[in-house]
Amino acid sequence: MKLWGGRFKGEENKLMEDFNSSLGFDKRLYNEDIIGSKAHVKMLTKCNILTEDECKLIISGLDSILKDINEGNLVIEGDYEDIHSFVETNLIKRIGDVGKKLHTARSRNDQVAVDMRLYAKKKAIEVCECIDELEEVIKNLADENHVIMPGYTHLQRAQVVTFKHHLMAYFSMFKRDKNRLVNAIEVMDESPLGCCALAGTTYETDREFTAKELGFKKPVDNFMDGVSDRDYLLELMSDFSILMMHLSRLSEELILWSSKEFDFIQMGDEFSTGSSIMPQKKNPDAAELIRGKTGRVYGSLMSLLTTMKGLPLAYNKDMQEDKEQFFDAFDTVLSCLKIMAGMLSTLTVKKESMLKSVKAGFLNATEVADYLVGKGMPFRDAHGVVGSIVIYCEDNNTAIEDLSMDELKKFSDLFTEDIYSFIDYNNTLNRGIKKLI
Ligand code: ARG
Repeated sequence: MKLWGGRFKGEENKLMEDFNSSLGFDKRLYNEDIIGSKAHVKMLTKCNILTEDECKLIISGLDSILKDINEGNLVIEGDYEDIHSFVETNLIKRIGDVGKKLHTARSRNDQVAVDMRLYAKKKAIEVCECIDELEEVIKNLADENHVIMPGYTHLQRAQVVTFKHHLMAYFSMFKRDKNRLVNAIEVMDESPLGCCALAGTTYETDREFTAKELGFKKPVDNFMDGVSDRDYLLELMSDFSILMMHLSRLSEELILWSSKEFDFIQMGDEFSTGSSIMPQKKNPDAAELIRGKTGRVYGSLMSLLTTMKGLPLAYNKDMQEDKEQFFDAFDTVLSCLKIMAGMLSTLTVKKESMLKSVKAGFLNATEVADYLVGKGMPFRDAHGVVGSIVIYCEDNNTAIEDLSMDELKKFSDLFTEDIYSFIDYNNTLNRGIKKLI
C-alpha cells in the first residue's frame, strides 16, 4: 500500500503510478534523505515526542539502510513512489512498527525541500572546488606563457597583448563565478525542515535544533515559503549558466586557435579526436562539446523558471520537475570544468606562430599614433596619418617598423629615430599591459 493509501478505495492506475514516480531520479537523494530523517528523529526525541529507545531503533535502522545502499547490498528500485517512500518502507521492514513513527510532525513537502537544499549546497561546494582546480591550471599555463600574441576586437587583430594576459581574463571570470556561487550558498543556507506540509505542526517541535544539526545557519522564516521555495536551485543554475557561458567562450577561442588559420596552440592528444575519413584531422571535440553543452544548462534554467512561474502557494507537484533539471545542470557543469582543466593542462602554445601573426597585423599602429601625439600632433590627425602609413605598408608588403626614416618622413616631419624603439612590441607591452601583470 502507498504511504497515503488509507483514504483510497481503488488502486492507482499503472500509467499514473509510473507518471507520478520520481524514484528513478530522486534516488540520488538517499544520503540527504537519511541525514534529514536522523536529525528529525533526534529532534522528536529531544522534544519528548519519541522515547530514547525508539530513537535508537530508528537511527540504527536508518544507518543500516544507508550502509547497505552504500555497499551495494540494497538497490534503490521497485514500485516506490519516491526516495522518501523507499527509505520509510524499508525502515519499517527492518525495525517494525516503531519505524512508522518516523514521519511524525513532518510532511514529504518539507522533507523533499530539506533533501534538495542539503544536496544542492553540497554540490555547489563541489563546483567551487572544481573552479579552484581550473584556476590553478589557468594560472600555471599563463605563467609559463608570458609571450606576445595579437589581441583582437571584432576578431580583427587590434593591439599586441600577451598570451598570459589573454588567459588571465578567464581567471578573472571564473573567480567571479565562484564568488557568485559562494554568495548563493550563503543565501540558501536556511532549513525548511519543520514547515511540514505548509502550515507547521501542532507538536512542540524545535526547528532551530534540526537546522543546526543539519549545518544550516537557521530555519526559514515562513512555512509556506519554506516548502515551496526553489529560488536556490534557480540561483545556482543561473550561476552555472554564466559559468558555462565563460567556459564556452574559452572553448570557442581554443577551437579557433587550434585551427590552421590561427595555429596558435596545439591540443594534447588526450583531449582531441580524429576523423573516420580524413586522416589528417585532429578535432577539438572536447571544446566543442563544452560549447554545445552550454545550451543544455541554459535549457535547465529556463525549464525550471517556466515550471515555477505560475505556481500558487504552497507546494505543488510541478516542483518535482526541479530535480532532473538541477541534476543534469550540475553533472554537466562538473564534467565541463574537469574537461577544461584537462584540456588546458595538455595544450602547447605556439609562440613563434603568434609572433608572426603580431608582425603581420600592424599591431603597433596605435602606438605610432601615440608617438605622434607625444610630439604635439592632435590624436585625430595622428590617426589619419597612421592610416595612410598602413595603406602604404600593405601596398608594399611591409611592416611599419621596417620602413626607413625617409619613408616615414614622407608622412610626417615629426618622426625621428626614436620611433623604432617606441613601437618595438616588447616596449609597447612594457608601457601597457605589463603594468597589470
Ligand atoms: N517527489 C516529490 C517531489 O519531488 C516529493 C514530495 C511529494 N509531496 C507530496 N505532497 N506529494 O516534489
